[in-house]
Amino acid sequence: MIVTTADLFKIAYGKFAIGAYNINNMEQCIGLFQGNLESKAPFIIQISKGAREYARVKMLEGLIRAAEELWPEAIFAVHLDHGDEETCYDCIDSGFYSSVMIDASHLPFEENVAITRRVVERAHAKGISVEAELGMLGGVEEHVKVDEKHAMLTDPDEAAEFVRRTGCDSLAVAIGTSHGAYKFKGTQSLHFDRLSEIQRRLPGFPLVMHGSSSVPREEVERINAAGGALDPSARGVDEDEFAKAVPLGVTKVNIDTDGRLVWTRVHREYFRDQPAKFDFRGPGKIFMAEYAKFIAHKNQKLGSAGRLEEVRAALTGKS
Ligand code: G3H
Ligand code: 13P
Ligand code: ZN
Repeated sequence: MIVTTADLFKIAYGKFAIGAYNINNMEQCIGLFQGNLESKAPFIIQISKGAREYARVKMLEGLIRAAEELWPEAIFAVHLDHGDEETCYDCIDSGFYSSVMIDASHLPFEENVAITRRVVERAHAKGISVEAELGMLGGVEEHVKVDEKHAMLTDPDEAAEFVRRTGCDSLAVAIGTSHGAYKFKGTQSLHFDRLSEIQRRLPGFPLVMHGSSSVPREEVERINAAGGALDPSARGVDEDEFAKAVPLGVTKVNIDTDGRLVWTRVHREYFRDQPAKFDFRGPGKIFMAEYAKFIAHKNQKLGSAGRLEEVRAALTGKS
């Protein structure tokens, strides 16, 4: 069942966070559904601009529609990740997405407000939720690169004004995370003080944490032992901090990099150990099973594991 992110957030707020996982291909899609069903969790499928170009819009839609038919018990939102205005309209008009993110966070405040407001008007007319972003995360994704000196934590007063003026349904806030594998040096952690200030000005309003991969050290070591060359100092968000972020209003947690690390580890180890093999279905099967395990583990940490029936009851009005 495809639902909006706003529907999910109403049920989850303050109790648990929903995992938002990016997909680019069939293996990720199958692993994602299996991992969420095994851990009985609602979830958000995220599609980036890069994914739309890589796999093609129709192909991704077909995959998700097929998964919906195969696993009708799943409850999820289909969300555009880091959209620009034009891509948001494309998704809104497609009738397939239940939620879009307009990311105009790199623009001055007034421009961000104006663009977000336009997207909200068009999305709400079709019952689609809108996530916006204020503040700037560091790091790299295919279409955005923000270096450390331009990264900027979200200002709590601006956040309140932004939400009031735009009417967005959720807000991505910058609280110290960044995209990609190289987030922290040493023992840095999230800026909970900032998060708490934002929540004080926006009580009950769903906040989104981007750049939430944990970049497990063991995963990096295994990749490097199998021929990879990742910087061994790569650090991510401590997964145990999700539980502290939930009562402070974080309701959606974006994870992409960690899934890419699972893919890289599985494929590097497979071909290192069996150099004469060339059937991609061998590592593909292992990846789908490992990805499902990875999703189930994340859902435990987010508190969304085991919530599927509670969410279904709340959505269908039966308890
Ligand atoms: O935050 C961005 C996601 O990790 C998507 O990355 O733009 O390379 O698909 P991408
Ligand atoms: P990571 O790079 O930490 O996985 O963040 C993903 C993300 O924020 C997608 O929007
Ligand atoms: Zn992001």
